[in-house]
Amino acid sequence: MRFSKLRVAAFAVLTFGIAAVAAAPALADDGKAVYDKTCAMCHAQGVANAPKLGDKAAWGPRLGQGVPAMVATVIKGKGAMPPKAGQPALTEAEIKAGVEFMIATVK
Ligand code: HEC
Repeated sequence: MRFSKLRVAAFAVLTFGIAAVAAAPALADDGKAVYDKTCAMCHAQGVANAPKLGDKAAWGPRLGQGVPAMVATVIKGKGAMPPKAGQPALTEAEIKAGVEFMIATVK
């Protein structure tokens, strides 16, 4: 009995460990997932003058401020973009991944 409980515990630790390791390099994919789910509705077509994905002219003047400032802007909201892009459940890390995904298309 005690032995099998231990094995279950060891298995749980092992699976959790693998999941934690697998989560780290997946950030770039997360950025696309965040973008597809939340940002694309405005940034794919340039709704309300949102800078479009891949549009260097629209993103150019905004890039100089750097990623942390852009993440802060998304959290606060700007113009027609609501705070946290209208998704209060988004974490700062998810927003950062979304910003990084978008600006990677204009670099
Ligand atoms: C409801 C539409 C809408 C959604 C959804 C939206 N945006 Fe925006 N976004 C805008 C608009 C409009 C602007 C331009 C704001 C301005 O310059 O007045 C903008 C600007 C930005 C900027 C540039 C900010 C700056 O400093 O000029 C970034 C970065 C950005 N969005 C990231 C995101 C990310 C990341 C998401 C998804 C998590 C997202 N947006 C979702 C409408 C949206």
